[in-house]
Amino acid sequence: MNDHELVELAFTMLERSYVPYSHFPVGAALLCKDGTVFTGCNVENAAYGSTICAERTALVKAVSEGHRDDFVTLAVVGNSTDYCWPCGACRQMLYEFAPELRLLVANRAHEFVALQLCDLLPHGFGPKALE
Ligand code: THU
Repeated sequence: MNDHELVELAFTMLERSYVPYSHFPVGAALLCKDGTVFTGCNVENAAYGSTICAERTALVKAVSEGHRDDFVTLAVVGNSTDYCWPCGACRQMLYEFAPELRLLVANRAHEFVALQLCDLLPHGFGPKALE
């Protein structure tokens, strides 16, 4: 799957977002080395802090299916005019498994920028710090 296809797949997840509080849908699609893709959307909760972001939904779906060290690219998309930058908690969760993950971050015009997770979370704290 190429970058454009991954971004468009993430956009299809916006309609699955459960966002009665923020009305800010986010979609994600995580590509693994073997071509498997795990999608995600944000799922909010009346106890606001229990909300899970789209990126973490995709990540925990992947890890729970046995994927850990084969993440290649993650597309993150939103309905916002600005690019839908991953929040700090998502950056940290992703860093655990793939500090050099490629990210495709899109705005509502379906324009996207490509960059690496370690550029968004420099000097990140990861498993190596605990060795
Ligand atoms: N959100 C995500 O899904 N991913 C992010 O990285 C940023 C924020 C969601 C959480 C919440 O449902 C809504 O966007 C507004 O914060």
